[in-house]
Amino acid sequence: MKGNPNVLSTLNALLADELAARDQYFIHSRMLDDWGLQRAAARIAHEMEDETAHADALIRRILFLEGTPQMTPGALTVGTDLPDVFAKDLAVELRVVDNLRAAIALCEQERDYVTREMLEQMLDDTEEDHAHWLEQQLGLIRMVGLQNYLQSQMGGSPGG
Ligand SMILES: [Fe+2]
Ligand SMILES: [Fe+2]
Repeated sequence: MKGNPNVLSTLNALLADELAARDQYFIHSRMLDDWGLQRAAARIAHEMEDETAHADALIRRILFLEGTPQMTPGALTVGTDLPDVFAKDLAVELRVVDNLRAAIALCEQERDYVTREMLEQMLDDTEEDHAHWLEQQLGLIRMVGLQNYLQSQMGGSPGG
């Protein structure tokens, strides 16, 4: 089914965001693991899988609308230590929230209600899961101090 060209170009812009978020979580999870922060690494690796699922949904929808998925990720921002990693990931998530909101409004205007519904699910994941978790961690670091927080993220079972 032929999609609206404005919707298709917006979906491709969102795809660049999701691919960048995926790659950023990919490198961050491996850095955290290398630093010995296995619990944080496992959580960030899980986020990478969520971003891959978001990219997958966008790719499938673009193909369905007879568009061509653009597989070039947006720019990455790689952190230098754990608070910086979380702050940079949060910046990506907040940018994605803005872009998803704008895309949902466009879908409404173009009356593409199925795409809108898909994007609403992604917005829910982005706001209530990814961005919220990162805000919580940055809040915990302020409350308990970085050393205590780091200690809580060491070793243990993956994802535990
Ligand atoms: Fe995402
Ligand atoms: Fe996300």
